[in-house]
Amino acid sequence: MPKGKTSTVFFCQSCGYESSKWMGQCPGCKEWNSFVEETVSKSAHAPGGGLQRDRLRKAAPTVLSEVAVREEDKLVTGIGELDRVLGGGIVQGSLTLVGGDPGIGKSTLLLQVCRNLSNQGHSVLYISGEESLVQIKMRADRIGEFSSKMLLLCETNLEEIGEVIRSRRPEAVVIDSIQTMYNESVSAAPGAVSQVRESTSVLLQLAKGLGVSILIVGHVTKEGTVAGPRVLEHMVDAVLYFEGDGHASYRILRGVKNRFGSTNEIGVFEMRESGLAEVPNASEYMLNGRPENASGSVVAATCEGTRPLLVEIQALVCHSNFGIPRRQTTGTDFNRVNLLMAVLEKRSGVQLGPCDAYVNITGGMKILEPAMDLGIVIAILSSFQNRVLNPKLVAFGEVGLSGEVRGVSMAKQRVAEAEKLGFDTCILPAVCVEECRSARIRILGVKTVQDVMERLF
Ligand code: TYD
Ligand code: MG
Repeated sequence: MPKGKTSTVFFCQSCGYESSKWMGQCPGCKEWNSFVEETVSKSAHAPGGGLQRDRLRKAAPTVLSEVAVREEDKLVTGIGELDRVLGGGIVQGSLTLVGGDPGIGKSTLLLQVCRNLSNQGHSVLYISGEESLVQIKMRADRIGEFSSKMLLLCETNLEEIGEVIRSRRPEAVVIDSIQTMYNESVSAAPGAVSQVRESTSVLLQLAKGLGVSILIVGHVTKEGTVAGPRVLEHMVDAVLYFEGDGHASYRILRGVKNRFGSTNEIGVFEMRESGLAEVPNASEYMLNGRPENASGSVVAATCEGTRPLLVEIQALVCHSNFGIPRRQTTGTDFNRVNLLMAVLEKRSGVQLGPCDAYVNITGGMKILEPAMDLGIVIAILSSFQNRVLNPKLVAFGEVGLSGEVRGVSMAKQRVAEAEKLGFDTCILPAVCVEECRSARIRILGVKTVQDVMERLF
């Protein structure tokens, strides 16, 4: 950094890469035309700006085995789907980022979290830089009653916010959204990379210094990252993304990073008149409206974190009228489907080459787990041969390049989920049969795709 009081720096808008000169392509994320000029003052780069007074303590190491961890250090939100994604609750003094498209329901979810926490007697402060008090009140009225422990603040100046947090000492704070916050020490506009970064670092100091849990809302840009944001991801303790299909009412909360729990957990919600409702039986929800007696439809058991989930895979395979057959996928990996079709052609001799193929995971979910392979293969074969399969069949397993069906983790849980939902047959990798011996449904172990052909077709 130059020594002067203020200087201009160029930031990549997509990954936060910093450079002293403009560049056409970002060396960090290879994005084109993403650099913008921002003025930064020197103090902005001392982490935490004006918060030095919180650091009066002398640094001293602690014996690891003597660090006490108590369960009550977690604020349980009472929203089961969220608590699981968070790893049991909101850890005291943690910084959590909740990202997602505008309008997906971030503010609604966090307002519901505030309601639950404040009704349990925790002091909560909801800071909005986007909506007025009246707008928040109108939303809150749809959600329910709030106790007097719930405070609202419409403010975007972080110095002011810091003062309020320091004097009120709430247990949990929501910042909606980080893109509207600004710091006087940074001259860039709110939402600029340097502004977002500095604001987050101020909040980080507040969270760690005072032991208050802070939840930050971040909007996602069209590229799918929070604006100015990968910068933000590494500064916070947990990153949750809210996803959903614009056409469906359900929303999926996905943990992408979590310093206090496992990632890849998902929570399923449904947007209702009165806010977001949990969907504890997600498999049932995903399988709603399955066609009867249709070829090319099969149910696959996938796992999201520790939770098994049944989804329907549909395939449509038909002869192509063009020289280059069309292949299309929704909700799964396009290249994976092409690969599986090549494996089928080579290892089991079905002539898929001249066929158009469309593969769809219904319900709008995106699932990239390799355990879906077997389901995709069966759906393709079923459609190709126009054979209707047993509607109470569930499949899972990874398919390798030699056509072998490989074992996957959590086989027992997947089978249990199928059993719970009334399925009667499960086709799975032969190596997983032993693990699922206690299941009360019929288990078919397969070693290769050739086996699958013989057993089902
Ligand atoms: P919101 O939480 O404002 O989204 P974000 O903060 O992520 O931008 O959600 C807004 C959408 O949710 C809006 O389209 C209306 C809908 N909604 C309901 O359907 N029911 C409700 O009870 C509430 C509060 C919102
Ligand atoms: Mg909002």
